[in-house]
Amino acid sequence: MTTLVIIPTYNEIDALPPTLERLRNAEPGAHVLVVDDGSPDGTGEWADKVAKNDAHVHVLHRTEKGGLGPAYLAGFAWGLEEGYDVLCEMDADSSHRPEQLGRLLTAIERGADLAIGSRWVKGGAVHHWPLNRELLSRGANSYVNIALGLGVKDATAGFRAFRSDVLTHVLAGEAVASQGYCFQVDMTRRVRAEGFVIREVPIDFDEREHGESKMSSAIIREAMVRVTQWGLEHRLAQARNLAKAGVR
Ligand code: GDD
Ligand code: MN
Repeated sequence: MTTLVIIPTYNEIDALPPTLERLRNAEPGAHVLVVDDGSPDGTGEWADKVAKNDAHVHVLHRTEKGGLGPAYLAGFAWGLEEGYDVLCEMDADSSHRPEQLGRLLTAIERGADLAIGSRWVKGGAVHHWPLNRELLSRGANSYVNIALGLGVKDATAGFRAFRSDVLTHVLAGEAVASQGYCFQVDMTRRVRAEGFVIREVPIDFDEREHGESKMSSAIIREAMVRVTQWGLEHRLAQARNLAKAGVR
């Protein structure tokens, strides 16, 4: 199984180096793609230097901060083109422990199409996260489940492994417009809608020690609007199916 771990970065000059080092040690066989949006702090140039000396590290440069969604889509396109079997998502700030990536890969080996590193299943945890962030994440996941009924406890999680062919299938559908962190929910609902197998595995989420979160009110607003819209579409489709069954 060839694996690519995609790490989106924006101003992660202090956070990325320890994360990358831990990842290379924990999963020496995996390749890494840093997708940098022209970070003013030089994250992209730093990654270039590493890539020069390490054939497992690759860098994709985008010209401006375009959001998490477009960064991952660019990373997926690169990884699918290169022919990796499994594409993973991971944050640059060590919030996702590189040592726990193996849990996701094991879930894929055992038949999952999408493995999600979950904070909110039994055995999962967050460490040193401010209460407002915990409440935001729990609230967002409750709302997602009421609106979309995904049956996933951590649909906003950013620590994931996808089977490549599943990703190809899902991305062939309607274009993904999500810019911010609702991209994660968007991908989850698409994988679910196609009937693929989603497994959540417990992980420990550590608050970052370096740099800053890019979470913003605009990201929250986009998520609210999109999840509500997807929810209405989902319920409408359910009602149509019920009506059809009634006619029969
Ligand atoms: N290239 C690029 N462009 N990278 C970005 C952008 C962007 O516009 N915005 C954020 N990132 C990168 C960050 O540099 C980091 O590596 C990763 O995306 C996650 O960003 P954070 O800002 O650290 O996210 P968080 O800790 O607040 O949020 C966590 O929780 C969210 C909600 O559960 C993450 O795990 C998210 O993935 C998750 O959706
Ligand atoms: Mn973070």
